[in-house]
Amino acid sequence: MEPLLRIKNIEKYYGNKSSLTKALDDISFTVDKGEFVAIMGASGSGKTTLLNCISTIDKVTAGNIYLEDIDITTLKGKELNRFRRDKLGFIFQDFNLLDTLTGYENIALALSIKGAPVSEIDEKVKYVAEELGVTDVLEKYPYQMSGGQKQRIASARAIITNPSLILADEPTGALDSKSSKLLLERIKFLNEELSATIMMVTHDSFTASYSKRVLFLRDGKIFHEIIRGNDNRKQFFDKIIDVVTLLGGDVSDAL
Ligand SMILES: Nc1ncnc2c1ncn2[C@@H]1O[C@H](COP(=O)(O)OP(=O)(O)O)[C@@H](O)[C@H]1O
Ligand SMILES: [Mg+2]
Repeated sequence: MEPLLRIKNIEKYYGNKSSLTKALDDISFTVDKGEFVAIMGASGSGKTTLLNCISTIDKVTAGNIYLEDIDITTLKGKELNRFRRDKLGFIFQDFNLLDTLTGYENIALALSIKGAPVSEIDEKVKYVAEELGVTDVLEKYPYQMSGGQKQRIASARAIITNPSLILADEPTGALDSKSSKLLLERIKFLNEELSATIMMVTHDSFTASYSKRVLFLRDGKIFHEIIRGNDNRKQFFDKIIDVVTLLGGDVSDAL
């Protein structure tokens, strides 16, 4: 497999000399094209910091992050904006939909900003809406949608530009179990059928069991990794639970 993302010895410190937090402590790993990786760890272990450094929302203190051979830690200004717009798709816990836009308009936004032709936008919006099962709420505003529908609209928005990498931070954090399952099935579909590369942060073993590989973080370090291989989701779930139990519930208790 071809590597898409290479994380090399990244460190991230917060604070100053008198109170220094090592949020990321010398992390290195590679994600291949088409992988679906989950990041697990207790609250405060550095999951969000790691995702934010990859998404360039936050800056690393040391180390390099390569996406398709470009060191994204060196990007600035226009280049940085273009990178975010063209290469990344975000799925946040709190959806981040714009309240004054319909579902359709929220999904179309990224393409509109790029200046894509209206006919192309229309075709793509309808296609991803169909894929994510939200065709019937395209004309609704976020306040008229359920949590699960909002999350799927947000997911459609994240994928419409066909990003190299989809980053999700606790995507099921605000959803009930039925909506969680629906969303995870869709994310799995994006990964398996549309070959999207996915990195997903979660504290939840069930959510993580949809991935193909789980990296466990503790105190800003990767201390364990499990690979799904030929296991089905339930078997992988049991293996994840074993690791979580070994940690004394440290991972799943906290958000
Ligand atoms: N902006 C910040 N300023 C200072 N410390 C921070 C900041 N963001 C995160 N931290 C600290 O970095 C560590 C990792 O945080 P975070 O990445 O949010 O963990 P997680 O997402 O796993 O709960 C924690 O100790 C947290 O308090
Ligand atoms: Mg977090």
